[in-house]
Amino acid sequence: MYRTNTCGELRLANVGQTVTLAGWVQRSRDLGGMTFIDLRDRYGITQLAFNMETNAPLCEQARKLGREYVVQVTGKVIERSSKNSKIPTGEIEIEATDLQVLNAAKTPPFTIEDQSDGGDDLRMKYRYLDIRRNPVRRNLEMRHKMAMLVRNYLSDRNFLEIETPMLIKSTPEGARDFVVPSRMNPGEFYALPQSPQQYKQLLMVAGMDRYFQIVRCFRDEDLRADRQPEFTQIDCEMSFVHQEDVLNMFEGLSKHLFKEMKGIEFDKFPRMTWHDAMCLYGCDKPDLRFGMTFKEVTDVVKGHGFSLFDGSELVVGIVAEGCAEYTRKQLDALTDFVKRPQVGAGGMVYIKYNADGSFKSSVDKFYDAEALKAIADKMGAKPGDLMLLLCGPAMKTRAQLCALRLEMGNQLGLRDPQKFAPLWVIDFPLLEWDDETQRYYAMHHPFTAPKPEDEPLLDDPSRWGDIRANAYDIVMNGTEVGGGSIRIHDRTLQNKMFHTLGFTDEKAAAQFGFLMDAFTYGAPPHAGLAFGFDRLCSIFAGADSIRDFIAFPKNNAGRDVMSQSPAPISQEQLDELCIKVDVK
Ligand code: AMO
Repeated sequence: MYRTNTCGELRLANVGQTVTLAGWVQRSRDLGGMTFIDLRDRYGITQLAFNMETNAPLCEQARKLGREYVVQVTGKVIERSSKNSKIPTGEIEIEATDLQVLNAAKTPPFTIEDQSDGGDDLRMKYRYLDIRRNPVRRNLEMRHKMAMLVRNYLSDRNFLEIETPMLIKSTPEGARDFVVPSRMNPGEFYALPQSPQQYKQLLMVAGMDRYFQIVRCFRDEDLRADRQPEFTQIDCEMSFVHQEDVLNMFEGLSKHLFKEMKGIEFDKFPRMTWHDAMCLYGCDKPDLRFGMTFKEVTDVVKGHGFSLFDGSELVVGIVAEGCAEYTRKQLDALTDFVKRPQVGAGGMVYIKYNADGSFKSSVDKFYDAEALKAIADKMGAKPGDLMLLLCGPAMKTRAQLCALRLEMGNQLGLRDPQKFAPLWVIDFPLLEWDDETQRYYAMHHPFTAPKPEDEPLLDDPSRWGDIRANAYDIVMNGTEVGGGSIRIHDRTLQNKMFHTLGFTDEKAAAQFGFLMDAFTYGAPPHAGLAFGFDRLCSIFAGADSIRDFIAFPKNNAGRDVMSQSPAPISQEQLDELCIKVDVK
């Protein structure tokens, strides 16, 4: 037996027992007569004591152990004379009687401590050492616990976990596919799934009724803190359901996770239409941990000779409560913030509503106190508040103000990572116009059903932008953690949708023929949703990056710096796959 116990479990009650532990040397302290070693494994740390007086050879051996050596130790559990209340095993130590070095270790390139001295890149290169650190290990343990809770919750409600293929047909809607060449079919390619969307719909046609899968998905898109090229979804689909049934089911799952993981109980999650989310927060994933909703003042500001406002489609602002004391420097920094290319505003107008009731603004030349008071009233500002305004084309300006609102939320400490604000955003538009290709795209995906009352608008191309979908996102703290929709189960409507998206019959048949065929064999009404599991984990932990919750993530350039992939392949492999590589 390698070990009788783990390094995290011995307590005063075990005093007197002879035990064998195995683990890694975290730290050793040589105090002359005594040598102490902190032995670490996944479960904790136990102190080993080696006594020069009673066992000099063993003590000498212990002194030579380097950091991260793998050792096995046998000894008696004794009560410590100086206890450590910071660790659960802090009241005992092991009086060692035998020590075996199971493996030596090179000195690690960074310290295996909660606060490591290793930078991001170094820790990613040696991710297996990084995972030995408590914070990373805890994240992976948390992920496992969440996955188990999800599996049990859904299984208890008749969902079956069914695996779907990883080598599938490329469908150029959505993000870019990662493709895999087929040796047996030269010149032909599989794609890795961006999601199991079509397969889960086929499982509904197959009568499986309730499906889920904790499944890897692949998307070749630009990366950010909350995006990885391979990520995991909790993918779900249900038959014979209305939108309400789906929202309730997955709200139930989310509440269950909050309760079990965080001890937080929620009432009903709020719901907001996409239209309201855009008008009140400037984005489809509002962070509801704080208010600061948008106030439109276009009517009030026009006609005062300020040409920028006069010529703008929308003038909209936020009220930062109690911020009238902001300094010139702070306001300049905010102006610089909105002018950054990532935000893209031309500038920012501020109005200070001073505590004494007077006003000071960057547009005093055009607006007297009475005019500024009218703006303040429209915005619901009170003395002591600061108003920040942006102007321009409606949608662009809203997106810019959204960035400014979040920045103010950060500055004012209103985005506490331990506070949780879940939200359903519903009634998304069905279609999204793309200026570059001059055509409509499905906002969610081509299988999403329009709201029945908006279906007639499909016959009028001038109204396509107004069609609402039975599509919904679940948003937490300003992050989209999941999304789904009611699917089209009627072949005629699906064909109409393909035409709207610019598919010819031939192209639709070539791309989605198998799904369309399946729909002629009795497709039940069905709907579903997929959570981004990595994102869900990071939100629950109050972390910014999903990388911390993935054992072996890619870096921002999509590279695995540990294995050095992607990497070239040999000419033989290329020849076998009939691939010519011509990298300019
Ligand atoms: P969608 O494309 O909205 O829907 O994806 C569902 C959820 O997956 C997460 N997600 C990501 N997480 C990490 N890295 C990425 N690159 C990434 N891309 C998406 C998000 C998102 O909300 N088949 C549909 C679902 C359905 O209709 O049932 C789908 O994939 O949290």
